Amino acid sequence: MDWGMKNRMSRIFKSDGRTVMLAVDHGYFQGPTTGLTRPEDTIKPLAPLADTLMLTRGVLRPCVDPGVDVPVVLRVSGGTSVLKEDLSDEEVTVSMKDAVRLNVAGVALSIFVGAPHERQTIKSLSDLVDEGNEYGIPVLAVTAVGKEMVRDARYLGLASRIAAEHGASIVKTYHCDGFEKVVAACPVPVVIAGGKKLEERTALDLTFNAIRDGASGVDMGRNIFQSDCPVGMIKAVRAIVHDGATVDQAYEIYRGVKNV
Ligand code: R5P
Repeated sequence: MDWGMKNRMSRIFKSDGRTVMLAVDHGYFQGPTTGLTRPEDTIKPLAPLADTLMLTRGVLRPCVDPGVDVPVVLRVSGGTSVLKEDLSDEEVTVSMKDAVRLNVAGVALSIFVGAPHERQTIKSLSDLVDEGNEYGIPVLAVTAVGKEMVRDARYLGLASRIAAEHGASIVKTYHCDGFEKVVAACPVPVVIAGGKKLEERTALDLTFNAIRDGASGVDMGRNIFQSDCPVGMIKAVRAIVHDGATVDQAYEIYRGVKNV
C-alpha cells in the first residue's frame, strides 16, 4: 500500500483503528428517504461528529460545506431504483477523475453476491480497485443483500471474503450470529450497516455486539438520522466504537442529549 492509500485509510479509520461512518447515500436508489428529504439539514449537525461521511456526489456538492473537516467515502455505483424487483443491476456511475476532484478518502460500490447481476457487480469492483490503485484511493465494498438472501454468517462471510479477494480495502456488511467468523475470514477491516430503524437501545446493542465480535466500526445511516435524537445517537454510537462504553452507558449518553 503506498503513502496516499495509507493516508486515506488513516483518515477513515482513527488511531484506534475504528470508524464511525455516517451513511447518507440511501437516496441513490430510494429517493427522498425518511430523514434525508433535506440532506443538508440532516448532515449539518452530524458531520462534525462523524469520522467519515458516505454519500453521493449529488448530495455532497450542494449539501455539504466544503470547509467541513470530515473525510468522504463517495458512493460511485447505482443505476437501479427501489421500484425494480432486482436491485442488483448496478454499474459504476462516477468517474475516478470526479472522485479525485472531490478529494475523497475512498469510493464505495455495492456487490450483489448470489443475485442476477452478481458477475457484473464483482467485475465493477475489480475495475474500480484497479482505478483506485492508480490514484491511491481505497475501495469500500458494500455486500448488498438481495431480497431472497439470508443474512447469516455463511452468506455474509462468503460475500465479504469475495469483496476482499477482489481488492476491496474495506468491507461493509451486516452483523449476524457468528459474525466473528465473518470477520476472521476477511483480511480487511469490516464495518457494519445498521439496517432498518430499530428502537435506539436495540441499535446500540447491535453496535456493541458488532464491535465485540471484531467489527472495525459502523457505516450507519437510518439508526442515526431517523432517530428522534440523531446527535444523541451518533454520540452514543461513538462512545461504544471508540471509548469502550457499555450499552447502558451509551444509552444514557443518547438520553442525556435528547433531554437537554
Ligand atoms: C445502502 O443502500 C446504503 O449503502 C446504506 O448506506 C447502508 O445500507 C447503511 O445504511 P443503514 O445503516 O441505514 O443500513
